[in-house]
Amino acid sequence: SKTEPTTHTGRGTGTDAVTVRVPAKVNVQLAVGAARPDGFHDLANVFLAVGLYDEVTVTPADELRITCEGPDADQVPLDATNLAARAALELARRYGVEPGVHLHIAKDIPVAGGMAGGSADGAGALLACDALWGTHASREELLDICAELGSDVPFSLVGGAALGVGRGEQLRTLEVGATFHWVFAIAERGLSTPAVFREFDRMNEGVRIPEPVASQELLDALAKGDAGALARAVSNDLQPAALSLFPALADTLAAGRNAGALAALVSGSGPTTAFLAADAESARAVADALRASGTCRTVRVTDGPAPGATVV
Ligand code: C5P
Repeated sequence: SKTEPTTHTGRGTGTDAVTVRVPAKVNVQLAVGAARPDGFHDLANVFLAVGLYDEVTVTPADELRITCEGPDADQVPLDATNLAARAALELARRYGVEPGVHLHIAKDIPVAGGMAGGSADGAGALLACDALWGTHASREELLDICAELGSDVPFSLVGGAALGVGRGEQLRTLEVGATFHWVFAIAERGLSTPAVFREFDRMNEGVRIPEPVASQELLDALAKGDAGALARAVSNDLQPAALSLFPALADTLAAGRNAGALAALVSGSGPTTAFLAADAESARAVADALRASGTCRTVRVTDGPAPGATVV
């Protein structure tokens, strides 16, 4: 069963709660094309889900309400701009359901970090409300709603590893041959994704930008589970823009590289930096060095691929 009975509401009726766990992501390749007429950029975006999770719990309520817990909870908007709220409202609209629901987010994914935390909450709320309301949306319809919410939201639903094209929302699942070990350094402040794309446009003014394509070496390295080959193939076209807006990130990248990381890169639009390690032991050593470097706020060690949004 997808639901389990919990406490009673003030209305005196039994209520159900549904909890969905959703992973963070790292982009092992983020190839960015020229700005499109709609302002978005065509991407070749290779996503890998990693084992840092947000949990979205939904319970019936008189009206839509969001609460959030976790170390960064105060940075999460609790209004209608929250992707979890938008997901619930869109599902309710499509099925003619009253969106009376309390969305509670237990947040462990860094906020405004380039790890798709907001997207995770959108995908989680969607799957949870679908179970709570018994709307039984098809996988295609869930993915369609996700794509409407944001470019990275479909991947949060699917998890694992995938190549995203278009805005990043059209996904092809990728094979991954082994577990990869990662360290993430969380920066002192956030970066806005639109601002990073604007900086990318500014830095590339007058430059002819080629069509974004996935690297075959990278896809082969993922399929083989070869961390050394993956390290040689990772790339992020947004990294110069993120570094331009946040130059101190270069020190964090250097600290991780010096500690033996196979690869060091900005995660998505940043400012979280991602370090690929040869194994779990090396990951711990990189994490210790990053902590000691004083170049970041928090360090997290995890691995991937991780499963997509899952009812727990
Ligand atoms: O789709 P999403 O809401 O996550 O995108 C956030 C912002 O990132 C967009 O408003 C846009 O500025 C930028 N973006 C982009 N091209 C993409 C994805 C995002 O320019 N493919």
